[in-house]
Amino acid sequence: MLETIEKLRTQALAEIAGAASLRDAEDLRVKYLGRKGELTGLLRGVSEAPQDQRPALGKAANELKIALTTALEERTSVLGSAESAAKPAEDLPDLSLPGRRPPKGHLHLVSQVTDEIIEILGELGFQVATGPEVETEYYNFDALNTPDDHPARDSHDTFFVAPGTVLRTHTSPVQMRVMERCKPPVAVVAPGRVYRVDADSTHSPMFYQVEGLLVDEGVSFADLKGTLMHFLKRLLGGNVKVRFNPHFFPFTEPSAEIHVLWTSERGGQTQERLLEIGGCGMVHPRVFEYAGYDYERYTGFAFGMGVERIAMARHQINSIHHFYEGDLRFLEQF
Ligand code: DAH
Repeated sequence: MLETIEKLRTQALAEIAGAASLRDAEDLRVKYLGRKGELTGLLRGVSEAPQDQRPALGKAANELKIALTTALEERTSVLGSAESAAKPAEDLPDLSLPGRRPPKGHLHLVSQVTDEIIEILGELGFQVATGPEVETEYYNFDALNTPDDHPARDSHDTFFVAPGTVLRTHTSPVQMRVMERCKPPVAVVAPGRVYRVDADSTHSPMFYQVEGLLVDEGVSFADLKGTLMHFLKRLLGGNVKVRFNPHFFPFTEPSAEIHVLWTSERGGQTQERLLEIGGCGMVHPRVFEYAGYDYERYTGFAFGMGVERIAMARHQINSIHHFYEGDLRFLEQF
């Protein structure tokens, strides 16, 4: 039996030394040291051997067990480090990679353009003013010299919240709220949301406007034109072409519509288009009367412009609805 033990030792140690993978090593552990393994069987056999041989056999078998266990441990450790070194790179974390940054947002194009408008007019001395979006008919219409039967007051054009209360249809009511609070000279810019019953490719039921108002002694239409030309050149570039078209607004006299000529690229073709971006004019004496201003002494100009329209002219955007759909493919371009 001692012979068997020796044979087993030679065979097992040779196999362990030849194990090519961790898997092989584990198979050998089961083969020799497992519950049904060869050495385990041999150890059981020791108890059946003649009494006088048992101590020697038990000692030899136990020594073999220790030798095999040690050999397996050594082989496993060698194979283990070799295998992890050889593991394909993609399975291992590359600790030298920079961390993943969480995606970072930015201001919406409407906010960006609004901020720029405020900044340019701010340099000229205009201060920011605000007013409520849910507005009284008085501020939205009456105080702005808009008669009761004016078509803009129709429920087809205006969202009525309650009798006498509307969602403001323009930022012009902020003019009146400012004039009620402040004596001339005033120069304010009022950005904000406005609402109209309207929807097509250049109209949306909610959109953004900026209002401007300047009142002082001796303000003329030339001041209005000079201010707006400077403003639009800063905003849209020195080459921008601007046209003032005679128009009518109840709260200004004379009044004009502001058009800018912008170029759009479509299918490799350059097209020039006129886009109406707002209105302007000299504040109507009746509006000053509502405000409690002396219209013999003061004159002023006012203007109101669509923020999306300006952004459309600047970035050649052909539908206003892109602004509100929240599509990141659009928004991330700006
Ligand atoms: N409130 C007008 C609108 O929404 C725009 C406008 C025109 C504003 C003339 C003004 C102005 O202040 O003087 O269409």
